[in-house]
Amino acid sequence: MKVFICGFGTVGQGFCEVLAMRRQFMLDRYGEPVTVVGAMDSKTYAYDPDGFDPLELVKRKQDTRKVGDQTYEDSVAVLEKADYDILVEVSPTDVRTGGAGLLNITHALEKGKDVITVNKGPLALKFQELIALARKNGCKFRFEGSVGGAMPIINLCHENLVGENITSVRGIFNGTCNYILSKMDKGQPFEQALKEAQQMGYAETDPTNDIMGYDSACKVAILANSVFGRNVTFNDVRITGITSITEDAVSLAASRGMVIRLIGEVSETKLEVGPRLIPKGHPLSISGTLNTAQILSDLAGPITVTGRGAGRLETASAILSDLISIMDERKRQR
Ligand code: HSE
Repeated sequence: MKVFICGFGTVGQGFCEVLAMRRQFMLDRYGEPVTVVGAMDSKTYAYDPDGFDPLELVKRKQDTRKVGDQTYEDSVAVLEKADYDILVEVSPTDVRTGGAGLLNITHALEKGKDVITVNKGPLALKFQELIALARKNGCKFRFEGSVGGAMPIINLCHENLVGENITSVRGIFNGTCNYILSKMDKGQPFEQALKEAQQMGYAETDPTNDIMGYDSACKVAILANSVFGRNVTFNDVRITGITSITEDAVSLAASRGMVIRLIGEVSETKLEVGPRLIPKGHPLSISGTLNTAQILSDLAGPITVTGRGAGRLETASAILSDLISIMDERKRQR
């Protein structure tokens, strides 16, 4: 199975590490290796139809800050010339235009390639168009890691809960905001907590996207489209971020046995992100960088999942699970 990776930051490198860790597992399961034939960062690319050692690519990136020897202007032109089976699109999120990620995914689907992505921009702006394109061209298109990183949510709703009528999903979908708010619970100032979240590698390239609620809004839009079959974009979400949460507001909440958390909520009619008062001890009052989601459905009742919403190996684990689903399906179809 030949994989091309677009985006070689934390997630792209983490995915290569996971491929190396699961090399034997994949070989045993499918009787063939998963080969990385190409990788692209924001300026350079490497391509070899015989494949690379994925750990060599990570080392090269860490030593030289470049994944490849060749530079490019147009990522689609690079993909056009490459021979691969699955595109793993993990370039940085652009919530305004969808960025290079949208172009790369569109091109791959038009060429009949399967796609795995955690890039929220294309999914939060052009979801139904991309699903329709994948369907038209008979491509598999999966994006579990785009919401909640390692926390299972999209495939859980689609697969394990397939017979349920899901009425709402509410949760904490941004680890940076949750880290800041839970540090503020302990009296730490906003700015200092944000700096720590950035140092831990959780915040977006531009952390404004976290604290303004834009990152959570992307995830809420993706859930609305994928779980509720709605046709919405990031721009339809009612968004309030956490920038106006003061230390006084946090103290007042604490004096009433509450915490403030940035909650995303989606249902057939709701589509919003905003700070909410949550009773201490409630499943949505969790602290730190964790993500959590409460799914309400008619037969199963409430189901709560919690997990690491970001991180090198954690997000890569969601990509691995999508890769296994695609390879299992291909095997069944053979
Ligand atoms: N910036 C995001 C967060 C990363 O803080 O949760 C995962 O989308």
